[in-house]
Amino acid sequence: MAFLNGVHHVAYRCKNAKETVEWYQKYLDANFILAIAENQVPSTKEPDPYMHIFIDIGGGNILAFFELPTKQPMIAPSDANTPAWTQHLALKVDSIDTMLKVKAKMEADGIEVIGPTDHTIFQSIYFRDPSGHRLELAADTATPKMNQMLDEVKWDMLNEWDRTKKAPTHARWMHDGSYAN
Ligand SMILES: [Fe+2]
Repeated sequence: MAFLNGVHHVAYRCKNAKETVEWYQKYLDANFILAIAENQVPSTKEPDPYMHIFIDIGGGNILAFFELPTKQPMIAPSDANTPAWTQHLALKVDSIDTMLKVKAKMEADGIEVIGPTDHTIFQSIYFRDPSGHRLELAADTATPKMNQMLDEVKWDMLNEWDRTKKAPTHARWMHDGSYAN
């Protein structure tokens, strides 16, 4: 029986807590809801100042960051062997219209935005926050039929992939434009 109940919070490191709060408020209309700060590790009392901030990303979900000013700067959000597009956080938006408004606002300020990319079951834009974390905004466009078609092939796809390490073609219609109602 499933016992998980959504995301309590996701935590990343940020370069600057105040800049992060202001950026998420400005571009994603996401409110700053909590700050937790210490100058030392609670157990050992070792000096280790941090600011831990929490941002409301809707749907009862929270995105948190740590600013760690005494640590070496972040090199990259993910490890050097993993392509920069791989690790990302995708946030739901209510419509493609909302997504396009966010894209326009970011691009007006010189933030690079990729997309919208049509995944047939949703459309997405991609960009980076001030610390370099890759974010996605996704607007769902799936129909019940699409979801059912994908549900029917998921295990075959996974098992084929596990044997061959080549992309199975069961759901090629998601990205080749061939889906027809
Ligand atoms: Fe994604």
